[in-house]
Amino acid sequence: MQLEENNIVDQFGRVHDYLRISLTERCNLRCFYCMPEEGIALRPKAEFMNTDEVIRMAETFVSLGVKKIRITGGEPLVRSDAKQILEKLSKLPVELAITTNGILIDKFFYTIKTSGIRSINVSLDSLDKEKFNSITRRNDFDKVISNINLLLDENYHVKVNAVVIKGVNENEIVNFVQWTSDKNIHVRFIEFMPFDGNKWDFSKVVSMDAILSKVRERFGEKVTRISDRKNDTSKNYSIAGFKGTFAIISSVTNPFCDTCNRLRLTADGKIKNCLFSDSETDLLSAMRRGEDIVPLIRKSVWNKKEKLGGITSFENLEKRKNRAMISIGG
Ligand code: 5AD
Ligand code: SF4
Repeated sequence: MQLEENNIVDQFGRVHDYLRISLTERCNLRCFYCMPEEGIALRPKAEFMNTDEVIRMAETFVSLGVKKIRITGGEPLVRSDAKQILEKLSKLPVELAITTNGILIDKFFYTIKTSGIRSINVSLDSLDKEKFNSITRRNDFDKVISNINLLLDENYHVKVNAVVIKGVNENEIVNFVQWTSDKNIHVRFIEFMPFDGNKWDFSKVVSMDAILSKVRERFGEKVTRISDRKNDTSKNYSIAGFKGTFAIISSVTNPFCDTCNRLRLTADGKIKNCLFSDSETDLLSAMRRGEDIVPLIRKSVWNKKEKLGGITSFENLEKRKNRAMISIGG
C-alpha cells in the first residue's frame, strides 16, 4: 500500500487502515466463551455512542485513511438504529463488512443488500443443533442455518467463524470442512483466546497444527494450501474438488501481529489499539467536549505494542485486565 500523508501509523511502520466498530455490548445469544456466565453489567445508554457519534467517529477515521470498516458487537443487529447506521456508513468511501451471529440476517436483508455489504462473517461453532444450542444457551440453530443459506442463494461471500475448543467442538472440524464440499462457504477455525470471564486455559486451545492434522487425517493429499490476502489473519486451505474453502486463525499459537492493520472502537467510544491491549483511549468523552480526537487516535496507535498488546505469553495472562469479548467485539 502507498503510504499517504494522513495515514495512522505506529512506531513499527504499520499503517492502520481497517477499523472495527462495536455497535453494542448486547447480544441475543450467550456463548459461554464470550459472555461471562453472570452476564455483563448493563450500563446507561448515554455511555455509548449514539447514531450520529458512530458516524462522526467513522468519518474521522476515514479522513485518516481507513479503507475498511467492520461492524461488530455483541451482536450489531440488535441495536435499534442498526439500519440507520448501516445506511449512513454505506455512504462513506470504505469497504463495509459485518460480523454477526446470523439470527437477524433475514430481517436486515434489504439493508445489507442496499448498503453494499458483500462479505459477511457469521459466527457458528457447531453444525449440531443440540450442541449449538448448548454453546449459545439459546435455541436459534435453525434460524442461523437458514440465514446462511439465504446469503449463499443470493451469492454472498459467506465466512463462517468457528471457535475451536477442546472437548466442545474439536470433533466437528472434519464435518465443517466436509460442509464446504458443495457450498461456496469459507469456514474459519479460530483458536480459542483468553478474555475476561471466559474460563480460558491453555489446555482448552486446539492449535492450528492439531486442527490441520485432523483435516489431513480425513482428507489426506486433497488438502491444498491456498494463497492468503494481504493482512489476512488466516492461513487458507481448500480440499481438491470442494466448492468452498477453509482457514485457520492461529491467534494463540502463531499470532500475526507483524502485519496488523486493525483498530477497534468499542461501543462506548474507546479506541483499543489491539485486541489484547489493557489500555484504551476515550474518544467519545473528548468528542462530547468538542475536542479534536485526531491527536488522540494518532497517539494511541503510535503507542501500540509490537505484539499481543505487550503480553509475552498467554500463560501468565490471569494478572492482566482486559474486557470480556462481548464488550470488545472480536
Ligand atoms: N476466542 C476466539 N474467538 C472468539 N470470539 C469470541 N470469543 C472468542 C474467543 N474467546 C469470536 C466469535 C466471533 C468473533 C467476533 O470473535 O466467535 O466469530
Ligand atoms: Fe453473541 Fe457472538 Fe458473543 Fe456469541 S460470540 S455471545 S453470538 S457476540
